[in-house]
Amino acid sequence: MQVRLRARSYPVEIGKGIFSRFGKRLSKLRPAVIGMKVAVVTNPRLLKLYGKGLIHNLRAEGFAVTTIVVPDGERSKDLSWVGRIIDKLVAGKFERRSALIALGGGVIGDLTGFAASAYLRGIPYIHVPTTVIAQVDSSVGGKTAVNHAKGKNLIGAFYQPKLVFADVEVLNSLNFRELIGGLAEVIKYGVIADAKLFRFLETDMARILSRDPDAWLYLVSRSCAIKAAVVSADEREGDRRRILNYGHTLGHAIETVTSYRGYTHGEAIAMGMVFAAQLSVAEGLCGTTTAKRQCDLLVKAGLPTTMPGLPHAAVMHAMDRDKKVVAEQVNFVLVDRIGRVRVKTIEKQKIRRALKSFCQSTSS
Ligand SMILES: NC(=O)c1ccc[n+]([C@@H]2O[C@H](COP(=O)([O-])OP(=O)(O)OC[C@H]3O[C@@H](n4cnc5c(N)ncnc54)[C@H](O)[C@@H]3O)[C@@H](O)[C@H]2O)c1
Repeated sequence: MQVRLRARSYPVEIGKGIFSRFGKRLSKLRPAVIGMKVAVVTNPRLLKLYGKGLIHNLRAEGFAVTTIVVPDGERSKDLSWVGRIIDKLVAGKFERRSALIALGGGVIGDLTGFAASAYLRGIPYIHVPTTVIAQVDSSVGGKTAVNHAKGKNLIGAFYQPKLVFADVEVLNSLNFRELIGGLAEVIKYGVIADAKLFRFLETDMARILSRDPDAWLYLVSRSCAIKAAVVSADEREGDRRRILNYGHTLGHAIETVTSYRGYTHGEAIAMGMVFAAQLSVAEGLCGTTTAKRQCDLLVKAGLPTTMPGLPHAAVMHAMDRDKKVVAEQVNFVLVDRIGRVRVKTIEKQKIRRALKSFCQSTSS
């Protein structure tokens, strides 16, 4: 599929077992989009699993490949690593059409994309996403960022890749918790935009959890298509793109309160979605059946739907500091019915009450 952003448009190619064709695919971008020189940015685990094969593949197509290995984990997503990547590019005399290839999940993608946006005021970058989060979310849309000691993703740029190349078979080596964390984002896409995708998740969860490649091909393709459509209509987070934040207002607050350690991003979003649906019922937008269907699906996926032990005051405080909070009001993404959401401005007082009752009702 195509992310349509005029001169910054790019293809998102998704398949099963396509990994070994990456070198050939990339060589088609030569010489118009990229040159002969590329750097593969990855981490030690992915270098071992897929990087060596990918580099071999690229060299067979005549590319001059530099490998840049960053330590695994969110802590590498910082300015010091941007500096180290750029040092390597300078040392290797990378020029305007030399390309960066991000082989990894959201951490590698965000870091590489940001380094690509900054070096020589922008060189091409290609994302080969290897996690569910990266395949269905972070690789599409052009948000790149690194963390600052004072906060996540504080330093970043909108910078679109030239190509996203996703093979669902690489998800086989992902640990199960990462897999279902990513599934929370897929469920989100069903709720915000695609009732058919939601039904598929309801009926085929056993296949999905057993990593059936055809099931995943469908999930990743549909999710990317939805994200691509939203991003094509709204590149820089205006109203349309806001719907992608469904479940994220509370989700981010939970991540902050637990210092990004207690729950994966997907788990926090799952709880955020349950709360958003409850709030939607309270606002009279949807019935309890819709909220229950969503909750049942999250449970089926093995995702948490309650927040035991989380103090609502601390969570509310974290939510107050969210970008989406304006004065005494919060722009909340709420659900009308499965497949359709809307952004509604809600007074903080109401949210505080709803959150208190959510915490109480789910704390046992
Ligand atoms: N730019 C965006 O729009 C956007 C959107 C969502 C999330 N993000 C960012 O993405 C990051 C989270 O991304 P993530 O969830 O992909 O985490 P991640 O990149 O840290 O990957 C999770 C773990 O899985 C391992 N891994 C990756 N692929 C694997 C594979 N195929 N097999 C085995 N192990 C594998 C990684 O080494 C890592 O240990 C956060 O920094 C978040 O801010 C960005």
